[in-house]
Amino acid sequence: MKEYKVVVLGSGGVGKSALTLRYVQGLFLTRYNPTVEDFYRHHTRLDEEEVTVEILDTAGTEQYSSMHQLYIDHGQAFVLVYAIDNKQSFRDVEPLLNQILDMKKTRNYPIIVVGNKSDLEDLREVDREQAERTTKDLWLVPHIQTSAKEDYNVTEMFRRVLRMINSY
Ligand code: GTP
Ligand code: MG
Repeated sequence: MKEYKVVVLGSGGVGKSALTLRYVQGLFLTRYNPTVEDFYRHHTRLDEEEVTVEILDTAGTEQYSSMHQLYIDHGQAFVLVYAIDNKQSFRDVEPLLNQILDMKKTRNYPIIVVGNKSDLEDLREVDREQAERTTKDLWLVPHIQTSAKEDYNVTEMFRRVLRMINSY
């Protein structure tokens, strides 16, 4: 069976675990429980094929950032998450992106930038158009908005990542 190794990165509290749990288990937890490191195996169908998706849900907390090298080594694709109600979390994306491209020694890798918590439109701090332009035109990676809470674009986002691995 085909296996895909996906790593979810981004600053603390942006919804990395919520996106992963929504995708793998179809549930949403309101309570915030910071992650140290969680690993999931998810069986699904992708384009008429049974596949296994391994997801590494990482810690956003700064004190664990020394682990990034190991995660980046491991990953075949990266989901870089920010929250639309947290400007700093968007600023935190670029160094992660650069770290991945440096380690993989390429300018192009299966990476997607995810603006999560799209349900919190009233609290938005990251302009959608500007975020899209920055990621697509400047960083040359796709951008998608999601809501783990409302189950908006979550499966679509992960499927897109798997297809990016296939076509890389
Ligand atoms: P760390 O593990 O500390 O890095 O955080 P994380 O990125 O895994 O964030 P987590 O998934 O734990 O979510 C943090 C908080 O945001 C929790 O209280 C979640 O319920 C909430 N949250 C996550 N996704 C969404 C979303 O799409 N919408 C809203 N409104 N809240 C969300
Ligand atoms: Mg987490």
